[in-house]
Amino acid sequence: MNDLLDSIDITAAPPENEPMRQYYFMKKCRGYVEAESKRLGRPLYAAINTFGCQMNARDSEKLLGTLEQIGFVGTEGEDADFVLYNTCTVRENANQRVYGRLGQLNNKKKSNPHMIIALCGCMMQEEQVVAKIRKSYRFVDIIFGTHNIFKLAELLWERLDREKMVVDIWEGTESIVEDLPTERKYAFKSGVNIMFGCNNFCSYCIVPYVRGRERSRSPEDILDEIRTLVADGVVEVMLLGQNVNSYGKTLEHPISFAELLRRVNEIPGLERIRFMTSHPKDLSDELIQVMKESDKVCRHLHLPLQSGSSRILSAMNRRYTKEQYLALADKIKTEIPDISLTTDIIVGFPGETDDDFEETMDVVRRVRYDSAFTFIYSKRTGTPAASMIDQVPEAVVKERFDRLLAEVQRISAEVSGRDIHTRQKVLVEELDDHVEGMVTGRLGNNTVVHFRGGAELIGSIVTVYLEESKGFYYMGTLAED
Ligand code: SAH
Ligand code: SF4
Ligand code: F3S
Repeated sequence: MNDLLDSIDITAAPPENEPMRQYYFMKKCRGYVEAESKRLGRPLYAAINTFGCQMNARDSEKLLGTLEQIGFVGTEGEDADFVLYNTCTVRENANQRVYGRLGQLNNKKKSNPHMIIALCGCMMQEEQVVAKIRKSYRFVDIIFGTHNIFKLAELLWERLDREKMVVDIWEGTESIVEDLPTERKYAFKSGVNIMFGCNNFCSYCIVPYVRGRERSRSPEDILDEIRTLVADGVVEVMLLGQNVNSYGKTLEHPISFAELLRRVNEIPGLERIRFMTSHPKDLSDELIQVMKESDKVCRHLHLPLQSGSSRILSAMNRRYTKEQYLALADKIKTEIPDISLTTDIIVGFPGETDDDFEETMDVVRRVRYDSAFTFIYSKRTGTPAASMIDQVPEAVVKERFDRLLAEVQRISAEVSGRDIHTRQKVLVEELDDHVEGMVTGRLGNNTVVHFRGGAELIGSIVTVYLEESKGFYYMGTLAED
C-alpha cells in the first residue's frame, strides 16, 4: 500500500477511477496530518464511534483503514483530532443517542478548535436529519452517507481545502468500490460484505430507504477477499447482508447463497463460517443441506421472526405466515439437531392485539430460541407503518415487552445449557473482562464460554470441556483435543 501511495503524483489532476482516486486524496491528506503532528509535537488521533449493526461495524473498519493510511492513529472514545460517528437509524433511540453525544462533542471542540467532526451512516441518508444538523449543529465538518463511504479521503481533503461544512449524500448507487484499505478490529475474525442494500420493504423498516436497493458482490471478489483475510490470520468469517438468502440473484451470472457457501467452505485455512441475516421467506432447502454437510458453517442460524401473528406478519409485509415459519424451524431442527436458533422480535407493531401478541409468545415457546433480540416498535418516518392508524399505547407495549423478555430469558437459560459436560471447539476471542487469568471464547453455535488461559490463546481454536452452565454462558476448562 505504501509503495502504491508513493508512486502517486499529487501535483497532477486527481484520477477519475476508483479506488485510485481515493489513494490520491489519501496521499494529499497525509501532508496535512504530517504538518499538524509536527505543530502539536504528537501523532494525530482518529476515533470512530459505531452505532447499529454488523454492516456498520464493517464499514467502520474500512473508514479506519482510510484514516490510518492518511496517517491518523486509531483510538477509542472521543478525545481525538478526528471524530467520526457512523450512525444507525433503525429505531428512534439510536438517533437520540447521536444527538445527545454531538452536544457533548461541541464542548470538546470549543477547547480544541482544530478538531474535525464527521458524521456518516444510515441516519445521514434522511433529509430531515441533515437539515437539522446543518441548522443546529453547525460545528460538524463533514457529512456523508452509506453509498459513498469509500470517499472519506476526498471529503476530508475538500474540508481542509474549503474550511466549511462538506455535505455529500448520494440517493443510491449501482457500483461497489473494491480494494479499499481496512483496519480490522480483530486479527482472527472478520465480517465480509456479500451484498448491500435491501429490497424487502418490511413495512416498519427504514433500512431499504437508507441502504438502497440490493446489490450483490461477485463471488470472485468475495472469495478473493476471504483468501486474503485467511492469509492474514483470519480463521472465522461472517458473511454479511440484510437478506443473505437472496444473494446472487441479480448478478450477471446468478448464483445461490448456498452455492457461495459451498465455495467459501473450500477455502483452505478457514475454520468457521457464519452469516447474517437470513429472511425466513427465502431460506432454501439447498441452504439447509449445505449447512448440514459443511464442516465449517457454524451450527447457528439467526432467523428473525418479528411477530408470531400471521395477520401482523402480513401487515409487516414479511411474506410468511406463523405456520410457514414454524414448519421451517421444524425442518431446520430435524435436519440439523444441534443447531442454535436465534431471532429478532418486534413488540407493539400498529394494530397488534393481545391475541396477536399471544401468537408471538406461542412461537417463542414452540421454537425455544437460544436467544432473541426483542425490540419495542419504533415509528420510522417514511415507512408505510408510520402512517398506520392504530398505534398501540405505550403502557400496553411495555407490559407485553416485559412479559416477552422474561419468557425469552427463561427458555434461553434452559436451552443454552444443553451442551453441558461435553467437549467443544472454542475460538478464543479475548481476555476475560472480569477475572484475571481467564479468557473468553465462543462455541460454533455462538454461546460464550469462559475458562482459564492466557493471551497466547487468542485467535486459536481449542477444545474446552464445558463444566458448568450459567444460563447464557458456560464455565469450562481447557481439554486435550
Ligand atoms: N435485515 C435484517 C434486520 C435488520 S434490522 C432482517 O430482516 O432480519 C434488525 C432488527 O431491527 C430487525 O430484525 C427488527 O427486529 C428490528 N427493527 C427494524 N425496524 C424496526 C422498527 N421500526 N422498530 C423496532 N424494531 C425494528
Ligand atoms: Fe428491514 Fe426487512 Fe430488509 Fe430486514 S429484510 S433490512 S427488516 S426491510
Ligand atoms: Fe442501523 Fe443501518 Fe444497520 S439503520 S441496523 S446501521 S443498516
